[in-house]
Amino acid sequence: MLTTSGRPRVHDQWDITNGVGLTALAVAAARAVEAGRPDALVHDRWAAEFVRAARSVDPSVDFPAGADDVGDDAELWLPMTDYMAVRSRVFDDALLDGVRAARQVVVLAAGLDARALRLPWPSGTTVFEVDQPRVLAFKQEVIDSRGDTSGDRRTVPVDLRDDWSSALLDRGFDPAAPTAWLAEGLLPYLPAEAEKALFETIDRLSAPGSTLAVEAVGEDQVEAIDGHPVVTRSAESLGMDIVALWNREPRTDCTARLRELGWEVATESAGAVAQGLGRPLVGDVAGIMAEGRIIRAGKG
Ligand SMILES: C[S@@+](CC[C@H](N)C(=O)[O-])C[C@H]1O[C@@H](n2cnc3c(N)ncnc32)[C@H](O)[C@@H]1O
Repeated sequence: MLTTSGRPRVHDQWDITNGVGLTALAVAAARAVEAGRPDALVHDRWAAEFVRAARSVDPSVDFPAGADDVGDDAELWLPMTDYMAVRSRVFDDALLDGVRAARQVVVLAAGLDARALRLPWPSGTTVFEVDQPRVLAFKQEVIDSRGDTSGDRRTVPVDLRDDWSSALLDRGFDPAAPTAWLAEGLLPYLPAEAEKALFETIDRLSAPGSTLAVEAVGEDQVEAIDGHPVVTRSAESLGMDIVALWNREPRTDCTARLRELGWEVATESAGAVAQGLGRPLVGDVAGIMAEGRIIRAGKG
């Protein structure tokens, strides 16, 4: 992306223990808490590893690495764990559906998502993980320290507010082959213009047979979370002010945008998905999260 002067735009960067990077760690912490449940919807053994490694980098990061570790912030972690478990599971299923017709997967804003390592991909599948350089560097260090080299996992360190397509192509992405795409926990952090460009780029790089799964957060949800006492208290104790990190510029609904681009789109509320998975999102905070939308789209 260029400025009006023709120079490339330089964006802020973050690592795993600050800014938007910290949100990736929070999601991993929720998956670590989930892993201890007998009825876990996702079994992510990497999540606790990432949290412990981040704590050793910065001991002030007080995120749980397991169910017995939620401490005083249980009022946030427990509903968040339910929501993240549902979200992770529905997108696991979406990607595994997607690779029935595709042998390449692109996880946009992958953060500490360990799907490349933990899902049973058909042989020959390549998983591209796109995120900020320092987030991916931290993740790689932890994976390397555990000596895991399974699968064809390729990192794409780039800012999704810039032209990220060249970086993806440079790593061997094939635009002529169908792709299973995922954008989970990403849209609220993007400026409206970057979100528009994101969908246009996905469309341009998607051969027929491609699929896309997206998490969308509505304006009403943002309003409800902003100033919610549990979120405010947790922001203080955890040092993560989620609402301040969100970009609240008005934007076109992504379902409408995808339909305009010619994709077939199905939308379900997170609450309905949760009911279907036997993990209803109940209570005040989980109830707000239940209003989120899980979007699954396909390009014919
Ligand atoms: C809430 S986390 C979600 C991580 C992952 N999808 C998951 O669910 O575990 C948000 C992620 O988006 C990434 N992200 C947000 N804005 C980005 C940008 N402009 N460029 C690259 N990555 C970005 C952050 O670095 C972070 O890893």
